[in-house]
Amino acid sequence: MILTLTLAARRDLTPEICEFTFIAPDGELPLFTAGAHLTVQTPAGAWRSYSISNDDRETDGYVIAVKREDGGRGGSLSMHRDLHVGDAIVARAPKNAFELAPDAPSLLIAGGIGITPMLAMLRRFVARNVPVHLIYLTRSAELTAYRDLLTAPTFAPFVTLHHDEGDRGRIFDFWPYFATPDDRHIYYCGPAPMMTAIYLRTIHWPRSQIHSESFAGVDSTDGTASPFRLHRAATGEVFDIPTDKSVLDVLRDRGIAFASSCESGTCGTCKMRLVAGAPLHRDLVLSDAERLDQFMPCVSRAAGEELTLEF
Ligand code: FES
Repeated sequence: MILTLTLAARRDLTPEICEFTFIAPDGELPLFTAGAHLTVQTPAGAWRSYSISNDDRETDGYVIAVKREDGGRGGSLSMHRDLHVGDAIVARAPKNAFELAPDAPSLLIAGGIGITPMLAMLRRFVARNVPVHLIYLTRSAELTAYRDLLTAPTFAPFVTLHHDEGDRGRIFDFWPYFATPDDRHIYYCGPAPMMTAIYLRTIHWPRSQIHSESFAGVDSTDGTASPFRLHRAATGEVFDIPTDKSVLDVLRDRGIAFASSCESGTCGTCKMRLVAGAPLHRDLVLSDAERLDQFMPCVSRAAGEELTLEF
């Protein structure tokens, strides 16, 4: 579902993170659940997905926060530079690829801009009196988004803030929290080194209790990619997809152009129909039902040696 939203407010949370509050010009918005993301078309035209940070009981607005990536592909810069209060913006209805398990004691871990889904989760758990602890890692107090909110009486008892000040000797020690598996669910979102550190330190936990989302989206050609053969249903053409290229890369090299935007599995622009073969879905867009017959060629691959798509 495509929505037209109005930017009702924006404010700087840190020197590099800006918060945007969107409302519907004509009333209530589709519901979302904690962990959901909103995919918006930035003023520059690219589609980008951002986690929603407000209380999921609210029906009159979506609040997101965007970190300005000066060396990025331009989406965040466009949001910071070109989006003004009162502007209209097009968005897709929220989707959730980072769902909470039914209420259970939970440990939330955020790094940097990864605080945004965690804030919605924290709000939900505190409102429902579910035992929760948020650990929020940032470089410094100045670079800590929502610091005032997290240190206020409502949330402070549930929050640990840690600043490493860029000193490797002050990197947070997760091990005391993970040494002994118990009934907690663990949710984490942050930069790649933090994600890797937590993954490795929770390897002995039941996987059903470990949940994560990478806010940077997905890289189709990371170290786990395998080559496969892609068949084009309409023509019978065959394309070899090597480990270092996505389906989208290969089709583009062959002069077959497709609409794409984020190229990291978060916006939904490049969707194709899956005809045959076992896919390895790596996107953050498709629902379980959609995964049966749809495919995002910017990041997803084949689980086996062959895949047939309609394009
Ligand atoms: S281009 Fe955004 S999901 Fe593929």
